[in-house]
Amino acid sequence: MQSRSMLFKVLRGSKSIRATQKSNTATESVPAHDIYNPLPFDKIPEPTGLPLVRTALDYTPLRGFDITRLHELWMKRHQECGDIYKERIGLKYWVFCRTKEDTERLFRSEGRMPFRFELPAVRELKTMMGYPDSIGNQKGETWHRLRQPVNRILLKKQTVWKYSKEQRDVCKEMVSYMERRRDENLEIPGYAEALQVWAFEMAGIFIFNTQVGLLREDVATEVAAVFEGSSRMLEYVGAGAIGGPWRYFLKPGLKKCLLNSKNFMLTIVNEQMSKKSIKGSLLEEIMSIETLTEEERESLLMDVLLGAIEATANTLAICLYCLAMNSEIQAKLRSEIKALTPEQISSGRAIDSMSYMNAFFKESNRLLPFTHGLPRQFDHDIVLSGYRIPAGITILNTINSTSNMNPDYFEDPHECIPERWLDKDKSKFMTTSGFGVGARACPGRFFAKQEIFLMLIEILTNFKVEYHHAPATSIIKATGVLSTEPKFKFISING
Ligand code: HEM
Repeated sequence: MQSRSMLFKVLRGSKSIRATQKSNTATESVPAHDIYNPLPFDKIPEPTGLPLVRTALDYTPLRGFDITRLHELWMKRHQECGDIYKERIGLKYWVFCRTKEDTERLFRSEGRMPFRFELPAVRELKTMMGYPDSIGNQKGETWHRLRQPVNRILLKKQTVWKYSKEQRDVCKEMVSYMERRRDENLEIPGYAEALQVWAFEMAGIFIFNTQVGLLREDVATEVAAVFEGSSRMLEYVGAGAIGGPWRYFLKPGLKKCLLNSKNFMLTIVNEQMSKKSIKGSLLEEIMSIETLTEEERESLLMDVLLGAIEATANTLAICLYCLAMNSEIQAKLRSEIKALTPEQISSGRAIDSMSYMNAFFKESNRLLPFTHGLPRQFDHDIVLSGYRIPAGITILNTINSTSNMNPDYFEDPHECIPERWLDKDKSKFMTTSGFGVGARACPGRFFAKQEIFLMLIEILTNFKVEYHHAPATSIIKATGVLSTEPKFKFISING
């Protein structure tokens, strides 16, 4: 097994950038939270690139730029400029912050309708699919109108728990799928795609009130091609996150791929609608919103469905990786699972309260972030690290991937130690969680956690998990993704 400290080493960039203020001067000269007498925006440290083009070259292949490793550039900037810095990206300034104090201040300053920031890449994708802009790009009352019905189903724990028995059945099917598909090395070829199909089936349970049944067959090529659509979509969004032309290299064939995904989803939606078995499902809830046009309803459904598949599948892969590298944690989780009765395992409430599982989930997000940066824009000025930031500036909180190895925050930061999260007094702003913070946080978080916990329970009950390939980190494709293929070895426990 590879050494864990080597595996979780934060990659530090090698090229240097010049900064107007270095880390020490930046943090020492500014009172941490002088909200009454803040320094002006122009005093925020800034990397000083070249005349005219500023830091633009850092975002080109000339400087080895890799959009999936954008977080490494943030780390490098923070090391040079301090805990807060500003950078001109395209025509606009962005501010980057990473302390727990700034994280708390940022999210406690949010109003009733927070705004992330608009991603033109997402709008382009939705246009390619023939839909209006996504919920994620909306703000104010328009956002609120879309978000309310989604919250009504997704954010009620009692509702989420109601689906756990059927979701557990899908996980059992996934285990038998895995048993059928293991090769001579006990690895599963195409496991990344299989995880997407699993995530789709799990979402189908609460969106359509039914299991679509894709895991009962070996994943057909045309189905795999459909999932390619959601994968490419994520890649495109990641590449478009900071503007610039990078996403356009990913465009060829994208529209066809997206339309395949759309048609596949719509076929299932229409089948389920005609069965009239959707009572109480998210599909029924969304399809009955009178204030939305039919197009808007379909578009919202697609947002939720596509949001649900990729992020959940990728997060499960990250958790499996952390487990594979830590057999003693597998053993501890098995003991926690054994303490539950079969009825409790099928009840969402008991799973939700598994303390070690919850701690392991948080620790996985710390080591290999499920989400790297969390952006926000405000319609009023706010003060971070003693600087005034004017309304309208995009503020990117990078705490998840630039403070996750900070020894002041986490003792032995390179080690996977779920126990550190059992301390209830720990500040909840040491990360932005994998799901974001506040009213804008992921509405699918209770479902996603339930699904991942259920699948980990089934896997740990049936297999020992190992990994024997190149060390992985979490890279950015909109959300965090394992940097290597999820080629795990699943060794049967029960003979
Ligand atoms: C482990 C899996 C998942 C992860 C890591 C994840 C992560 C996130 C994050 C970080 C955000 C932005 C939050 C913020 O700005 O504060 C978000 C938003 C969103 N997520 Fe998830 N998510 C996951 C699963 C799901 C699922 C299962 C669904 C649907 C059932 C979903 C639907 C959405 C939607 C619709 C938004 C946009 C919300 C808005 O703008 O108001 N996600 N997700």
